Amino acid sequence: MKTIVTGGAGFLGSQLCDLLLEKGHEVICIDNLVTGNTRNIEHIHSERFTFLKHDVTKPIYFGDKIDYIFHLASPASPVDYLELPIQTLKVGALGTYNMLGLAKEKGARFFLASTSEVYGDPLVNPQTEEYWGNVNPIGPRGVYDEAKRYAEAITMAYHRYHKVDTRIVRIFNTYGPRMRINDGRVVPNFIGQALRGEDITVYGDGSQTRSFCYVSDEVEGIYRLMMSDYTLPVNIGNPEEHTILEFAQIILGMIGGRSKIVFKELPVDDPKQRRPDIGKAMGLLGWEPKVGLEEGLRETIEYFNYIVRNSRQ
Ligand SMILES: NC(=O)c1ccc[n+]([C@@H]2O[C@H](COP(=O)([O-])OP(=O)(O)OC[C@H]3O[C@@H](n4cnc5c(N)ncnc54)[C@H](O)[C@@H]3O)[C@@H](O)[C@H]2O)c1
Repeated sequence: MKTIVTGGAGFLGSQLCDLLLEKGHEVICIDNLVTGNTRNIEHIHSERFTFLKHDVTKPIYFGDKIDYIFHLASPASPVDYLELPIQTLKVGALGTYNMLGLAKEKGARFFLASTSEVYGDPLVNPQTEEYWGNVNPIGPRGVYDEAKRYAEAITMAYHRYHKVDTRIVRIFNTYGPRMRINDGRVVPNFIGQALRGEDITVYGDGSQTRSFCYVSDEVEGIYRLMMSDYTLPVNIGNPEEHTILEFAQIILGMIGGRSKIVFKELPVDDPKQRRPDIGKAMGLLGWEPKVGLEEGLRETIEYFNYIVRNSRQ
């Protein structure tokens, strides 16, 4: 099985490359390294693995057959997509268009990494796949949310019109080793600050909720969805919901040290709550998260501890 992973040098993409190699795939990792890093794939020495530095907003051609395309390329953290708004829109639109074109030409199965951000600041909790969302298209976060909503729309259009075999996952906040410590997402932020003995910054009063999925659970769900025959979007995330303040307290409790929790102004359009309804993933894929919060955080803290000690990021 010849499989492309776009965004394969990123956090989730590199973990997916590992899983695919374990499952016997030949993997072509395509990444322009805008937010990813070859450090995430330097441990891979398999002959079944190739890395191509390429921007997927530009077309790419392959002579050989391709069986599967996992399209994960996109800036993903708010810090990244607010810094790279046009690139984010381009990779959601042109990048997805190019990869769908390749899937059509090769008769490959196409997989879109979409996001819980398509639900925006949701008015229902938990979010089921049938919920259409509450997104501000012209707010600063709109560049990411709307890019992914467009990517879903063009994926379904290729599915319906060109009969391309497609899958769509809506990924909810995922954490674990190979995230960048300075990528601005909650888990690396809190852990990095606690490890450096700095104050932990909570935005708003910390009452907004999130649910965090450990990365090994997330990539297992992604793999199962690709191998299933279900073509509508599926939520993959951990439904265990905590307030951001609780997260800060849990991480502080695990790391110890002298950090205090401090509060700063909430960013524009920050969702107040996020929790996936995973009924579909459980029913269709027999998937549910296995790694508990403390266990996942322990692994992640160990990884970031190593990064901080070696100052590699
Ligand atoms: N991690 C999460 O919690 C989460 C949540 C929802 C959705 N997602 C989605 O999962 C995917 C992976 O996210 P991640 O957390 O691993 O982020 P990441 O930033 O670590 O990885 C994204 C990768 O895409 C690459 N990339 C970006 N634009 C590209 C382009 N034009 N051409 C080629 N490569 C490009 C980056 O260099 C990077 O390696 C993204 O599509 C993201 O939207 C992630």
